Amino acid sequence: MPNGLAIEARGLFKAFDGKTAVDGIDIRVPEGSIYGILGPNGAGKTTTIRMLLGIIDPDRGERTLLGHANPLEAAKIVGYLPEERGLYPAMTARESIAFMGALRGLPLSVGRARAAGLLKDNGLGDYVDKPVKTLSKGMAQTVQLFGTIVHQPKLIVLDEPFSGLDAINQGRLETLIREEAAAGATVIFSTHVIAHAERLCERIAIIARGKVRFEGSVADARDRLRPQVRLTTRSDDGPWRSALPARAKLEDGVWSFELPEGGIEPLLRALLDSGAGIEDLSIERPGLHDAFVAIAGGEAAREMGQPIPGDVE
Ligand SMILES: Nc1ncnc2c1ncn2[C@@H]1O[C@H](COP(=O)(O)OP(=O)(O)O)[C@@H](O)[C@H]1O
Ligand SMILES: [Mg+2]
Repeated sequence: MPNGLAIEARGLFKAFDGKTAVDGIDIRVPEGSIYGILGPNGAGKTTTIRMLLGIIDPDRGERTLLGHANPLEAAKIVGYLPEERGLYPAMTARESIAFMGALRGLPLSVGRARAAGLLKDNGLGDYVDKPVKTLSKGMAQTVQLFGTIVHQPKLIVLDEPFSGLDAINQGRLETLIREEAAAGATVIFSTHVIAHAERLCERIAIIARGKVRFEGSVADARDRLRPQVRLTTRSDDGPWRSALPARAKLEDGVWSFELPEGGIEPLLRALLDSGAGIEDLSIERPGLHDAFVAIAGGEAAREMGQPIPGDVE
């Protein structure tokens, strides 16, 4: 792309029956990057993705997909895993993958050969000729994912791809996303589980109630918050207390506060001078979850919940 962007969207707006679902969203996805759309349920992620792909048209706003003002013109070089999944139960794993590739213009014979390779390379070689109905839900989802990438798309769009997968399959999917990006594809996925985005994404958009609340790198999101200091001392009183930031909180014998602009050294000096006895001291960079709370608000964060390893829905 001349501007280096796989996706560029400006002012996307969509209402259903007079109710605003997406309220003026801007998104810029650099080519070759892994990009995350984060937000609680109902935030407008799926509607945004559908507009980006041209499955539905926005009421207002524009989008360019791989250089095409009409996203459907890029269909053959796009792979899309929708949020609502489904395969033909009687079709074998290999045929399902080849069939999905054929829908995007890949010759069936090539699709069949690649399908067998994808399944074998990922420990599913025994299932090549098994009907989809005999596979577990997670395996079937993996098969659908292979069908999404079998035509080797330049842009891979995955709507909540981690939902419904156990921890092992989630890990496999993370590896696959990294491999596809390393091979030059752009990957964009939506999630309401922050941990996946934190591990994978170069850039993220945090969406809440139809609006982008933050767009940028994971590091930028974290940098919105100061590191957190936690301190435990042997004696809980002394002249050092006046060196604590005004907003320091004491709970169960542990002081917690934001790292002061002037650093930790003045407090350390006061602690040493007054022999407070430092029992425990940590300075921690906030995680993406904390940044999310600060950016999107506590309500959205509660809807998102804490990242749960091996989250299965
Ligand atoms: N086809 C539709 N018809 C009516 N309302 C819809 C439709 N699609 C989405 N919505 C509404 O738009 C809002 C955003 O939904 P969605 O984009 O699915 O959010 P997310 O994917 O972030 O969970 C929700 O309030 C949802 O009920
Ligand atoms: Mg959705």
